[in-house]
Amino acid sequence: MKEKIEALLAEIDSLACKSENEIEEARVRLLGKKGEITKLFEEFRTVAPELKKEFGQKLNALKNAAAAKIESMKDSLEEGGAVSASFDLTKPGDDFPLGSRHPVSIVREEIVEIFRKFGYDVAEGPEIEDDWHVFEALNFPPEHPARDMQDTFFISSSANSILLRTHTSSVQVRAMEKMPLPIRIVCPGRVFRNEAISARAHCIFHQVEGLYIDENVTFADLKQAILLFVREMFGADASIRLRPSYFPFTEPSAEVDVSCNICHGKGCNICKGTGWLEIMGCGMVDPNVLEASGIDSRKYSGFAFGMGIERIAMLKWQVKDLRNYFENDLRFLKEFETSI
Ligand code: DAH
Repeated sequence: MKEKIEALLAEIDSLACKSENEIEEARVRLLGKKGEITKLFEEFRTVAPELKKEFGQKLNALKNAAAAKIESMKDSLEEGGAVSASFDLTKPGDDFPLGSRHPVSIVREEIVEIFRKFGYDVAEGPEIEDDWHVFEALNFPPEHPARDMQDTFFISSSANSILLRTHTSSVQVRAMEKMPLPIRIVCPGRVFRNEAISARAHCIFHQVEGLYIDENVTFADLKQAILLFVREMFGADASIRLRPSYFPFTEPSAEVDVSCNICHGKGCNICKGTGWLEIMGCGMVDPNVLEASGIDSRKYSGFAFGMGIERIAMLKWQVKDLRNYFENDLRFLKEFETSI
């Protein structure tokens, strides 16, 4: 009996059926009612009691091996059959959907490209900043509300606090400290403010800061630079209006409105019926700011401006809810596939 079991095990091992019929034949021959293994189980009754344990285990192992082999031959026949039946070498490959550029990246690049054409370089600075570059050197008095915990994310609040920059104006300080004059730069980047997230506010957003410092730079140069930018960005018929404003780092300061590109000045719900949309802050760099970075304010003057990238994107595509820019919902992002 021992030899028979071993012979059958070897046979099972080398079994290679090529069709369903062959598999079924093998099954009947081994495990059917009159099959070899079934016969061995009958013979088992006559085995001496002291050998029953050993042969019982061997027979069961043989039966399991035969059943497993038959199953695995069935499986591989199904797989192989399926592949060969549907394998069409002439079929086009699978489509891999390409990602699209984020609207904030698209607008950032558009802004940077426009200023590059005007001769501006790109400068970047750290997102984790110190109090000096975000506030002190920009002429913020110590009690200014923008320094408040309500607005600023502080990382450490020692004498010279470490914080997340609340605007990209900090990069103009870094540029003035180390770049040779004249300076003509735009500084795109991410900024952080401690705001509750809503459709109109977010704790993270993006800005582009601009800075031009040279001898004899005037407010007229500022106005012209912004007008040229706006015409490139919003179309040749766009116009601007400047409203007096206040920023600690510029004097005089202004806020810039662009004519509404949706109703063309007639008044709509985007411009709230005014025909104008606010797009940026600007002004002549305050002499205190130049001096804080070691620039002689009697010899040099300059202008600066700062705009929110999401704000420009919002006006370009009429996306009213700021949260869309941060949720990365593919249905939203796909809308910009053709804007690249
Ligand atoms: N830093 C200002 C802000 O975050 C924007 C700004 C206004 C930048 C006027 C400027 C400027 O350079 O001159 O709101």
